[in-house]
Amino acid sequence: ADSGYTAWLSYPVLPQGNAYNQYVKWCGAVKVAEENDTVQAALQEWQRGIESMLGIKVSSKPDGLCIAIGTFQGGNELISGVFAEDTLAKVGPEGFAIRSSEENDCIAVGASSPAGVLYGVFHLLRLIGSLQSIEGLDEVVNPVNGLRMINHWDNFDGSVERGYSGRSFLYEDNRFTRDLERIRDYARLMSSAGINAIAINNVNVHALETLFISKYLPDVSRIADVFRLYGIKLFLSVNFAGPMHEGEVGTADPLDPEVRKWWQSKAAEIYAAIPDFGGFVVKADSENRPGPFTYGRDHADGANMLAEALEPFGGIVIWRCFVYNCKQDWRDRKTDRARAAYDHFKPLDGKFNDNVILQIKNGPMDFQVREPVSPLFGALERTNQVIEFQIAQEYTGQQRHVCYLVPQWKEIMEFNTYAKGEASPVKHIVDGSLWGNRYSGIAAVSNVGNDKNWTGHLLAQANLYGYGRLAWNPELTAEQIASEWISLTFGTDPVVSGVISRILLDSWEIYESYTAPLGVGWMINPEHHYGPNVDGYEYSQWGTYHYADHRGIGVDRTVKTGTGYSAQYLGSNAEHYDSLEECPDELLLFFHHVPYTHILHSGKTVIQHIYDAHFEGAERAAELLSMWTSLKDKVAEGLYLQVENRLKEQAGHAKEWRDQINTYFYRKSGIEDNSERVIY
Ligand code: GCU
Repeated sequence: ADSGYTAWLSYPVLPQGNAYNQYVKWCGAVKVAEENDTVQAALQEWQRGIESMLGIKVSSKPDGLCIAIGTFQGGNELISGVFAEDTLAKVGPEGFAIRSSEENDCIAVGASSPAGVLYGVFHLLRLIGSLQSIEGLDEVVNPVNGLRMINHWDNFDGSVERGYSGRSFLYEDNRFTRDLERIRDYARLMSSAGINAIAINNVNVHALETLFISKYLPDVSRIADVFRLYGIKLFLSVNFAGPMHEGEVGTADPLDPEVRKWWQSKAAEIYAAIPDFGGFVVKADSENRPGPFTYGRDHADGANMLAEALEPFGGIVIWRCFVYNCKQDWRDRKTDRARAAYDHFKPLDGKFNDNVILQIKNGPMDFQVREPVSPLFGALERTNQVIEFQIAQEYTGQQRHVCYLVPQWKEIMEFNTYAKGEASPVKHIVDGSLWGNRYSGIAAVSNVGNDKNWTGHLLAQANLYGYGRLAWNPELTAEQIASEWISLTFGTDPVVSGVISRILLDSWEIYESYTAPLGVGWMINPEHHYGPNVDGYEYSQWGTYHYADHRGIGVDRTVKTGTGYSAQYLGSNAEHYDSLEECPDELLLFFHHVPYTHILHSGKTVIQHIYDAHFEGAERAAELLSMWTSLKDKVAEGLYLQVENRLKEQAGHAKEWRDQINTYFYRKSGIEDNSERVIY
């Protein structure tokens, strides 16, 4: 447990007391009537969790009170006895019902599918792990989002694109891992957080990975078997030029009959090996990946061609909208990467088949610590869509700094697009309710690797857990999710919980304050994206990220004088962002180019804000470390030391950020800090 490997399925021993006594009273025995593998996996999890948290043996021959677990049709008479017909009707395909019934001497966890049983069991374990009462329970819980997906950016050679927690645990040296135990533990973690779909390879599909849908299908299928046990569907990223790869077809033109046939026969082969295969994730015409543009076709042509191949088997195509001109010259002031997804995909609204989902990256640039919400949300009325987040902290400290991202995701989900009336938040587009989509949900780039603790930084586990929980139910607060994760990982000591919760909840703001200011982004080292480098990208051939010179800073995205990006928003959002007076401070430099003396809503000038935020940010980063050290005797040593080491690095590195940024802007602007602090 000291390594962090068991993560939020550590099942720490619970303290003696009323809650403990209540759990012991009910949980001494369990009744399961089904042989189904997933139901059996749920049973195993239940026993493991209860025996570890309560230190008791769970009997499978109830005499007296018990927990009953199973599907409604599974032949468990306790389940059929406890739930009324109208309850059954409310439970969706992945949902569950849970009821404590004194008359029936049991707490029943029932579902319409084995996956639902699993979610119900994890739910009850979570209640117990966070010391909540399990008496008087009577609820039906369904996931809010249909697709709750993780995208791995793992390569077959064992490297992970933007991976910050070791190498891949799926592949090594162009072979599939033999450690299926670890994959099973991963599936347990994912399922317990509510994940139901995982794409196992990088969206940049290289030569050998192109063969995952042919030569390597038997290996892929072994992983699918493990995922299936935990209610997770396996997806693959595919190479749009797949048909040409081994010279079978001379083109990848989506309208070419030979190409279509090739994909159809591939689909048949895949489903013969993996009958519940999820579908394809596609990055096309993006950052030098092949796509339909080569043949003068559009993205709908490309996606629909694949969709037709998968449709007979119930598969879906997840087509990414991260399409922009990555060869823009810095002199070109009209091309704007932030505009690109909207410009490419808005005109195609309504042209995609029913089993195509567009995956829209947020933010519109690229997962910066602060960006406005992608304006494509709200613009597509007749297209299935999922939002794409990045759990991997590519631009938010690379899992060497703590940056709890759930508050950021919450903010994005709550953003009102005004797409259909006054209340049209992103979360209702994403869950499919606003436009009534066939498919909808959330995807995110994974942050796991083969580091013992999965995520490198132990506290980065909270992002992985939190992502799943938020995808399941976007109404959960960032505080609730943090507190659940802390109890399940570290136990229920309120002091520990208070401190870690504070660290997590403040961390995004702190990270933002010592890095790129006011929504401008991108002041990182090119290529690997770690550490400060104000002009790293600005003076590359692209050079369109912050436009800082001695007079001012920021990207003019207004309609009159800039790229016109602000007009991609609907209703008052467009005016709001376009107006220098109304634009919120935290996004000012994303939308406007201003002199350093421009006065913010906060009353400070831009330059003084930069100085203050960076001094404060570095100071607060150091405080994170001292908050953590107060837990020295309260957290298992192995866990304690891991986090202490990372927080030390962060505190030191935050100073480097502070100094680089402050010095740069001091020398550019020539304006003194009004508090006369040290700026080099
Ligand atoms: C970012 C990231 C790339 C990744 C790309 C994507 O640009 O740095 O490594 O391939 O996003 O989302 O496709």
